[in-house]
Parts: sequence; C-alpha cells; structure tokens
Amino acid sequence: MFMVSVLLVCLGNICRSPSAQGVLRKLLAEQGLTAHFSLDSAGTGGWHVGKTPDPRAIKAAARRGIDISDLRARQVTLDDFDKFDYILAMDSSNHADLRAMQPENTPAKLERILAFAPAGYPEDVPDPYYGGDDGFDSVLDLITDASQAFIAHIMQADNT
Ligand code: 4NP
Repeated sequence: MFMVSVLLVCLGNICRSPSAQGVLRKLLAEQGLTAHFSLDSAGTGGWHVGKTPDPRAIKAAARRGIDISDLRARQVTLDDFDKFDYILAMDSSNHADLRAMQPENTPAKLERILAFAPAGYPEDVPDPYYGGDDGFDSVLDLITDASQAFIAHIMQADNT
C-alpha cells in the first residue's frame, strides 16, 4: 500500500496551515484515501506553539463542515525534512525560510501549495491574521482548489 506524508507549513501554524490540514483531511476522507496519507502542520515561527487554531479559522472551516479544533500549533523541526515526503508552504516567504533550513540530502519535496493550483492562481495564500473574516474564506477557497490538485497529482504519480 502506498503512503504519502504531507506537512503543511505557514508562519504561525494557527491560520493557514491548520486550515489546509483540515481541508486536505476532509477531501481525502471523501475520496476514501485517508489510509494512504499522513498529515500534519507546523509554523516556521514558534510564537503560538501548543495553541488551537485562531477562532476565526475554526469558525470559517466549521461553516464548510471542516473541524480543525483538534489541531495544535507546533514549530517546524529539522527532523521534518526526513520524516515527510512533501512539505507544502503557504507562501513564498515560508517557502524561502524552509529552503534555507532544509538540511542537505533530506528527502522532503519542498513546494508552495499553490504551485499545484490551476493556472491563473496567485503564488501565495495571503496571511489572514491581521485582516477581517473574509480573509479566512479566501484562504479556504485557495487551499481547497490547490489541495484537490495536489491529490490528483499524487494519484497520477506511479503510487498504486
Ligand atoms: P498563519 O498566520 O501563518 O497563517 O498561522 C499568522 C498567525 C500569527 C502570526 C502571523 C501569521 N503572528 O505574527 O503571530
């Protein structure tokens, strides 16, 4: 049986990456693929370690039937580059920070999550932390489309 491990990464691990973990978890469950994937999320920064996602992120996800209240923030570690097949960054700044951190000869494939999105999408999932509630909805829109495309990419690869 194939297994793919995926770490979603943003800055604080309380808005975008837990939202992405929740979206991916739901899409995989709907497609009967839960057993083939292991998911986690983390932040490049450590300010919110141990915290639940931002209440605005929990609410926006809940409106779409996605529960992320069980998730707790943690910081990216060097071990993650050995443990995960894919590390998906929410924006270019997270991607650059991760690239600078990645130890040589570690297997993780490091990508921006929106690199998997259809043509015409932005490069970055905007940080909603300092904005209004609608920012959390656009985060969910972007990561839903990118996550679906990511799953399709994995399933097209020679995994089965
Ligand atoms: P996230 O949003 O990276 O999507 O979790 C942020 C959350 C907190 C902070 C920045 C971004 N912060 O500076 O505390």
